[in-house]
Amino acid sequence: MVNRDARGPVWLEMPGDFRHRWPPAVNPPTPSSLVTQFQQTFGRMPAVIARAPGRIEFIGNHTDYNGGAVLGAAIDRYVWVAVAPNADGRLRFHSANSPTTLQLPADPGTRLTGTDSWVNYPLGVWRSLQDFSLPRPAGFDLLVDSNLPAGAGLSSSAALELATALALAGLEGATIPPAQLAALGRHAENRYVGVPCGILDQGTSAFGRAGQLVHIDCRGPSFSTVPFPAAAHLWIFNTREKHALIDGLYATRHRECMEAAAALGVARLADLTPAQFHAAENKLAPVPAHRARHVVEEHARVHDTVGALQRGDLTGVGRLLTASHRSSQCLFDNSTPALDQLVDLLSAHPAIYGARLTGGGFGGAVMALTKGNFTEQAAQALLGPYVTAHGRAPEVFHLRSADGAQVIWRAAETAPAGNVN
Ligand code: GLA
Repeated sequence: MVNRDARGPVWLEMPGDFRHRWPPAVNPPTPSSLVTQFQQTFGRMPAVIARAPGRIEFIGNHTDYNGGAVLGAAIDRYVWVAVAPNADGRLRFHSANSPTTLQLPADPGTRLTGTDSWVNYPLGVWRSLQDFSLPRPAGFDLLVDSNLPAGAGLSSSAALELATALALAGLEGATIPPAQLAALGRHAENRYVGVPCGILDQGTSAFGRAGQLVHIDCRGPSFSTVPFPAAAHLWIFNTREKHALIDGLYATRHRECMEAAAALGVARLADLTPAQFHAAENKLAPVPAHRARHVVEEHARVHDTVGALQRGDLTGVGRLLTASHRSSQCLFDNSTPALDQLVDLLSAHPAIYGARLTGGGFGGAVMALTKGNFTEQAAQALLGPYVTAHGRAPEVFHLRSADGAQVIWRAAETAPAGNVN
């Protein structure tokens, strides 16, 4: 489900069926179905179940690790983690997508590869609990389920990290405040998975609230929320393309940004206003100048987007979203022809305010901010040229903003209730 293996410079197509899926086509697991699944897998009851949402990067592309601002939406697609302590000190991991359980006698001390590589996320979280001086079980059985589309840039990895942290700490009776939870998830990913990501994904999944966008000033980081306009809707168009070298490309952009900041004499690119940057950009070669300009101007666009949201200017928000995509396309070079075509088609539609790639880029999905009258039929009609060019439609999701990561069930409470979900 969270497979980041790089096998060569080719474009991979994500597995799965090629039909549109419209919520609620995917039946989410409930606490009682998870308890049953856990019992079938491990032969006993779980003790804690936690759930964490995926996220849409609303705007703020590659600004987070540059000390900039971002706006994200936690979404109503989740990763669930059910756990129980065990007496034999083993670490057992089972994904609902897989017929096998991985059993480790102890911490292997290295990264797992191949089909087991998804285990690096929960294993990294278990190690991180110790790094953060938080209690953790010596041994545990862990079950993961999810209704987040993988590979769509909706951050199933951060959701897995946060749900695991809450569930494992919950076994020890500990709670983790959202800021620490976000920091721990990022630490696990940076240190134990090896991706130099910022705080966007984990911060949005931790601080999400239904009806709100999460605003992160990544310098602190500090977290707040901005009301999401009731009249607007979020749609995702997943190309199901993912560059095989995506992690390497992300790390390359990270390095290019750090080098550009050093050449400009600042600790982080977002320390510069657009005017300061434009006055200094002749110190940089063309490619680093493009990368840096994207970050500096994107940081400013996040600020402008907050203002437009507060004024209720959705047309202005849409313009900023599409401008963000054009900057990815032309300056940061993290878009693809498929993402560009989707943005072209979507942003020309009268019921759509704006559209942009969401997440790291190099494949994945486009997000569109739409009016209430945008429908499945409208989506199908506008996707015609995309289907002609690519031979299949993207996966389409109409999503709602949602609450952040939380423990949703404990064995000590009354019998599992499906309505907790
Ligand atoms: C990925 C990373 C985030 C952020 C985005 C790009 O989602 O995990 O930290 O850098 O890319 O904005």
